[in-house]
Amino acid sequence: MEFETLIEDYGYDGEGVGKRDEKICFIPYTIKGERIKYTITKETSSFCRGQVIEVLNRSPLRIEPKCPYFAKCGGCSYQHLPYKEELTIKTSLFKRQLEKIGYKGLINVIASEKEYRYRNKLKLFVDEGGVGLKYRNSNKICYVDDCLLCEELIAGAIVPIKNFILGNKLGKIIKNVILRQENEKCLINFILICNREINYQGLYLLLGESYGIYQTYDNDCKHILGVKYLDKTEFGLTCQFGPQSFHQVNEEVCQKLYSLVLENVSGKVVNCYSGNGVLSGIITKKVNVIGIEIGDKEHEEAQLLRDRNRLKNLVNIKGDCSKILPNVDGETLVVDPPRSGLDKRVCEIINAKKFDVMIYVSCNSATLVRDIARLKNLSIEKVYMLDMFARTGEYECLVILKNNNK
Ligand SMILES: C[S@@+](CC[C@H](N)C(=O)[O-])C[C@H]1O[C@@H](n2cnc3c(N)ncnc32)[C@H](O)[C@@H]1O
Repeated sequence: MEFETLIEDYGYDGEGVGKRDEKICFIPYTIKGERIKYTITKETSSFCRGQVIEVLNRSPLRIEPKCPYFAKCGGCSYQHLPYKEELTIKTSLFKRQLEKIGYKGLINVIASEKEYRYRNKLKLFVDEGGVGLKYRNSNKICYVDDCLLCEELIAGAIVPIKNFILGNKLGKIIKNVILRQENEKCLINFILICNREINYQGLYLLLGESYGIYQTYDNDCKHILGVKYLDKTEFGLTCQFGPQSFHQVNEEVCQKLYSLVLENVSGKVVNCYSGNGVLSGIITKKVNVIGIEIGDKEHEEAQLLRDRNRLKNLVNIKGDCSKILPNVDGETLVVDPPRSGLDKRVCEIINAKKFDVMIYVSCNSATLVRDIARLKNLSIEKVYMLDMFARTGEYECLVILKNNNK
C-alpha cells in the first residue's frame, strides 16, 4: 500500500520524518520540505519506517549520489545532500540531544576535509554470493565492488577478494574480511567460521607488496603473507599497528580530535579506554599519563609504543576502567568509551573522584548525553562535533567539562 507525507524533520540517522495519521514515520534519503510517496517497511505501536517510492516535489538541495549502492547499502545516509547540509543536520541533531540535559551553548563544528576516500578501515561481510556491506536495517548482504568512503588500497582490494572467495568456493568458510590501511600499506584479515587451511598465494601475487594477509579463527590471528604491520608517525611518535586493535577511522579528523584533547589537558592525566596508546603518547608531550585499556592487543601495542618512543611519563594499565579507576588519581580525566558509553559504576567513581577537568570523546551522542546527565560537580564548558564519518549518519563528539567547585 502507498502513502503520502510531507517531510517535516530529521531522525537521529538523518532519515526524513513524516507522519502517517498521527504516527511518526522515518523515511531515509528524504529531505525536509519534500512531499513523498512511500510504503511501510516496519510498523510498531509508536512509529513506522518507510521506503520512498517517489519524491513529488524535489527539494532544491537534492543532489545525485556518487555511489551506485547508495540507498541500498546501509552505510551512508547523506549522499543525496550537499556536505554542508549534512553538517547542519548533524549539528542540529546533536544540539537537540544536548538541550535535553540543559546545554544551550555553542557547538563547534569540525568538518572532514574529505567527503569520500577517507576511511582507513572496512569490514566486509561474506556469503556464497559475494562480499559486501549490510542493507539498511537488515542482516542481508548488499554486494559491492567498491566503497567510496574507503581509501584507495582498501577499495582496490574488494574485487580481487570477491573473486578469490567465489573462485575458491570459500563463501561458507569466511565470515568477514577486515581491511586496514595506513601510509600506502594495507592489511587484510580473513575471519573464518571453521578452521581450514587456505592458500592465499594467488591473491597476494595479484594484490602485490603493499598488502599483508592475516587469517583469524576463534580469536587466533595469524600472519600469513606480505606486510606484517602498519607503520606511521603521529605527532612525532613512531607507531606500529597490527590488524586487530582499535584506531580512529578518519586520519585528518583524528589529528584534530587529538590536538583538541592535548590543548585542554593539564596536571596528571588519567586516560580511560585508551586503545593502542597513541592519544596517551601524544598527551605525554605535555604531562604525565596513566592509560587504562581492557583489550589485549591494544594494551600490547600501547606498551610497544611507550617503549619504542621511550615515553617515561606514560603508564599503561591493562584492565576494566570500572575496576582500575578507583585506584588512580589525576587532575584531568579523558574518556573515549565504545558506543555503549560509560558504565553506571564508572559515572559513580567519577563523581567520587572530583577531577578538575573531564574530556569526554564519544562516537555516540545518545550515550554521551545520558552519561553527562549522571555526572555531578561537572558542567559543560565546550562542545565539538567532529565529522569523523562523513556521508554516514554518525559523528564524533568531544565535550569538555569543568569542576564547578574549582
Ligand atoms: C573508542 S575506542 C578508544 C580508543 C582510543 N582512545 C583511540 O583514540 O584510539 C574504545 C576502547 O575502549 C576499550 N574498552 C572497552 N571497554 C573497556 C573497559 N571496560 N575498560 C577499559 N577499556 C575498555 C576498547 O578495547 C577500545 O580500545
